[in-house]
Amino acid sequence: MKLSIIGTGYVGLVTGACFAEVGHQVICVDSDAQKVALLQQGGIPIYEPGLEDLIPRNVQAGRLRFTTRTADGVEGSDVIFIAVPTPPLPDGSVDLSFIEKVAREIASAMTTYKIVVDKSTVPVKTGEKVAETIKRYGRNQVEFDVVSNPEFLREGFAVEDLMKPDRVVIGVRSPRPVAAMREVYAPFEAPMIVTDINSAELIKHASNSFLAMKISYINALSVICEATGANVQEVANGMGMDARIGRRFLEASLGFGGSCFPKDLSAFIKIAEEIGYDFRLLKEVQRINEEQMSRFVKKIKDTLWVLKDKRIGVLGLAFKQNTDDVRMSPAIELCRRLQAEGALLRVHDPQAMEKARAVLRDVTYVADMNEVAEGCDALVIATEWEAFKKLDLLRARNALSHPILFDGRNLFDVAEMERLGFIYKSIGR
Ligand code: UGA
Repeated sequence: MKLSIIGTGYVGLVTGACFAEVGHQVICVDSDAQKVALLQQGGIPIYEPGLEDLIPRNVQAGRLRFTTRTADGVEGSDVIFIAVPTPPLPDGSVDLSFIEKVAREIASAMTTYKIVVDKSTVPVKTGEKVAETIKRYGRNQVEFDVVSNPEFLREGFAVEDLMKPDRVVIGVRSPRPVAAMREVYAPFEAPMIVTDINSAELIKHASNSFLAMKISYINALSVICEATGANVQEVANGMGMDARIGRRFLEASLGFGGSCFPKDLSAFIKIAEEIGYDFRLLKEVQRINEEQMSRFVKKIKDTLWVLKDKRIGVLGLAFKQNTDDVRMSPAIELCRRLQAEGALLRVHDPQAMEKARAVLRDVTYVADMNEVAEGCDALVIATEWEAFKKLDLLRARNALSHPILFDGRNLFDVAEMERLGFIYKSIGR
């Protein structure tokens, strides 16, 4: 099929590449000329495992190309996916100006029937607004359908999530676009649920909020575990064996972050408020998340006492493993809090150091994770990178002035760390 994707951020780029990989003809559009030039020259603007193979392979095969002109995408495709950012506004609501602008651009470029699919995360009822806008700005009364098709991609695992989706959600106003949407997704062999547009839009916010709630739930339990001597991972294992609960997203941590959960929670709370419902449950999810960071900082202060002029090594800057994304990263927030107390930081991340440099200053960036501990008073794990499990612990222990390790991601075994002589403080264990 002929498809276009407007917006080449994490979602748009991965979606475009995967659609091309299964045989569709894909045009990726972005208004950022520099980014498009980079992509046209074979460069990849983000770190997302798998893209480095997918993009060149599909460009070479003639199934994937990049342009700055929305009109090119619209003319050359039957189905147009909108994947532009929907950033938060200061009051927690969603800035829909990019969506509105793209809807106008699509409208003015349409000359034949098109299916316009919203993939960006949007408040319920946005599809209705997009349809109104296209109708208002469209020329010649060209027919079109608006579809909601939320994405469920995790950064760092986005290619895998798109190629093998748990489900595909399609929200429509009429049956007309359903066959084409089935054809788009047929190669992925995933269960598809077809709903009205408002339900599809809600499924996205409801899913992300539920996952965030799961994390805050286990983080709240971690407090109880610490107070009672229980082990939060054992509790999660026991709970997770109940198929109704499931083990995933029950990793206690120093809190969740990223460009999705924090923003989507605020947006969902705001959407509920606008329709007259006080979503206190989700406000508590946010509160627990903020508290989890403060508790972790307190744990460090309780052990090291005064942080001023203490040297602390921090492993991890990305908001989670397998990504270079530092937006709303708990690891960056932790660094800032430690800096505010006067600590001097040596930091490392396998992928995110370049992006971190723009937001985190006055720290020493260390290229090798095994050199971070040199001359430090303590070491902190802030991101759940698999690579950190292979840290040379004996070398770290000898490099630290005192063998103290704070683990905000529960990467190591408590008994083993104690056997190695560490003062080891993790979450809920
Ligand atoms: C999340 C959802 O998982 C995706 O399904 C969704 O499509 C995406 O948002 C989106 O809306 O675009 P993402 O933000 O990439 O994906 O990352 P997650 O893997 O969900 O992790 C979010 C945060 O929660 C990270 O900071 C992670 O470290 C933390 N986390 C995750 C925990 O602290 N504990 C867990 O058990 C799981």
